[in-house]
Amino acid sequence: MNDVPPRRAVGTLFRVRVQFYVMTDPSGHGTRIPPEIYDLGFGWDPQPEIELLQLLSREAYGQPEAVLELGCGTARLLRAFPPKSTIRVGIDLDRDMIDYARQFDGLELHEADMSDFCLQRRFDLIFCSANTLRWLSADAPLRRMWQCIREHLAPHGIFVADLELGRAHLNSQVGHPSRWEISRDGRVVESRWEVLSVPSDEDCCTTEWAFTLHSPGAPMVTGRSWSEQFPLRIYEPAELVHHAAEAGFACCGLYENRLPYLLPRPPEIAHGRIVAVFQNAN
Ligand SMILES: C[S@@+](CC[C@H](N)C(=O)[O-])C[C@H]1O[C@@H](n2cnc3c(N)ncnc32)[C@H](O)[C@@H]1O
Repeated sequence: MNDVPPRRAVGTLFRVRVQFYVMTDPSGHGTRIPPEIYDLGFGWDPQPEIELLQLLSREAYGQPEAVLELGCGTARLLRAFPPKSTIRVGIDLDRDMIDYARQFDGLELHEADMSDFCLQRRFDLIFCSANTLRWLSADAPLRRMWQCIREHLAPHGIFVADLELGRAHLNSQVGHPSRWEISRDGRVVESRWEVLSVPSDEDCCTTEWAFTLHSPGAPMVTGRSWSEQFPLRIYEPAELVHHAAEAGFACCGLYENRLPYLLPRPPEIAHGRIVAVFQNAN
């Protein structure tokens, strides 16, 4: 986790207490969103994502018995893998996320940077959930990340990254935030994900996520909010495939995930939210 303190402004608007955490470290950063808020905000049923990862692994390699998640956050995905048949390991740069994830049994968790880790073991499946790969923006850490993945994958094991590809796609997102709401245990978290700008001469776009917690049953409490802006790497599909090939990976496929369909996309048209599958060529 970087040690730059967040700039913080606290305001009171009617009965709404609003806290803004703004953090703009250019690369290799963890998040400052409280893990329990993050976990609620992304707390939808993880099973479709787990089943997809298992299916992709079975098709290219075999049933994954040892899995590693890069940037695992609160381990919302790792903890949904079948515990009896899977060794589940996660790394995240953010100590608070890892500490939160430690409450769940049967996981091996490390506070570590996905561009520089050494776990001294190999995995059948390594994965990075939605847009997490894009948190690494500079070229040198990216090259090191691919090298680390290679060193930790079993021969012919697979690496799966779920991410949004294409500058034109990101441009089309500006001004069109995604919003959703999840409730659990009497609490409701409203979430927003927004691409703020896609500078034409830079490798990163600026993204913001924001979360508001409501406790409908509690009198007088109407909301408390957190938001964070961060740079995310912009990838053209061919560039991602090229990075992987340079590190010794074969591309098994780029897919548009339109549940229940998985639509193969050649790199020329693999824009938007894509599941990319790479195999350790050795
Ligand atoms: C979008 S969240 C995804 C969390 C989790 N994978 C999920 O799907 O809920 C991205 C996570 O990546 C972590 N992260 C960012 N840069 C990282 C790095 N260089 N190494 C390890 N983790 C990193 C952040 O701390 C954050 O927890």
